[in-house]
Amino acid sequence: MTDARTVADRLRDRITGSVTTDASLAPFTTFRVGGPADVLVEAESEEDLRAVAETRGDLDVAIVGRGSNLLVSDDGFRGIAVRLGRAFRDHTRDGSDLRLGGAVYLPAAARLTSRLGLTGFEFAAEIPATFGGAVRMNAGAHERCIADVLRTARVVDLATGDARDVGVDELAYGYRHSSLGPHDVVTAGTLRLEPGDPGKIGRRIAGLLRWRREHQPPGRSAGSVFKNPPGDSAGRLIDAAGAKGKRVGGAEVSSRHANFIVADPTGATATDVWTLIVRLRDLVRDHAGIVLEPEVRFLGVFPGGEQVEVEVEG
Ligand code: EPU
Repeated sequence: MTDARTVADRLRDRITGSVTTDASLAPFTTFRVGGPADVLVEAESEEDLRAVAETRGDLDVAIVGRGSNLLVSDDGFRGIAVRLGRAFRDHTRDGSDLRLGGAVYLPAAARLTSRLGLTGFEFAAEIPATFGGAVRMNAGAHERCIADVLRTARVVDLATGDARDVGVDELAYGYRHSSLGPHDVVTAGTLRLEPGDPGKIGRRIAGLLRWRREHQPPGRSAGSVFKNPPGDSAGRLIDAAGAKGKRVGGAEVSSRHANFIVADPTGATATDVWTLIVRLRDLVRDHAGIVLEPEVRFLGVFPGGEQVEVEVEG
């Protein structure tokens, strides 16, 4: 069994990024609940990521972006959590192609496309995730998704340390799904956009943000808790089952959108959120005969659950 502190010491000697032991992950998630990771690495280069692969031994590795789709167990994560640091927040433009680093925040990228006069990425303004996380799960909004605009992605495998460039066709994209494995970190990607009028792009973005404010709740949530089942909407199903306002401890089903769970800033735990998710799944199964699949990813051990080794979004 590899010792986490020994790994942390070895990594400190090798990488340009930062290494913290027993690091709280709650601040790196939008639910803002959950316990610490044994080791937290903020990588500043692909070499840093290769060092994690070569040093980790048998420790699990999880990739954490903006944590906007992530529930960390109250007991935390026994392994190495990896974030991409500032070095992965760059962008370069080549005509209508826009290359983004894996740690770029999508709403910022959407505003950037408006300044650059490039259209096709307005939908990203609504998604509070990192670009890398969005590429891995094919994040989307308003009938648009990453698969519609991505050309290539740069991926580092944290199991082997190998880096590779993959074309969009190799990613086997589906609804909130790609072929990327649990240890694959997306460090960058190139979008193929189209020239457009900055004013119009800006207005479209403003309209989407207005829609979001009207239809989705503010506060500490991870967006949609469940994926939409084919031909239906998880929010509609949970709402029809009468669950709006349902609470477990400090976690509550939003009365604005039933597929959102909002964590109370004064006292929600990850177990509250987890328990409510399980109850909603059971409620919809009993009410409509449909078993909803979580869109939220889980990191760590949950009551009645197994240790979940996760590839995590942003
Ligand atoms: N609805 C209800 N009650 C509710 C919520 C929704 O009846 O409490 C009904 C709405 O009236 C509508 C239907 O359900 O007829 C669909 O709702 P909505 O338009 O809000 O879209 P959604 O399918 O719930 C999806 C994405 C969102 C994305 C929006 C807008 C999924 C799981 N969710 O939501 O993505 O922002 O479309 O494009 O695909 C996310 O992935 O985290 C996310 C927020």
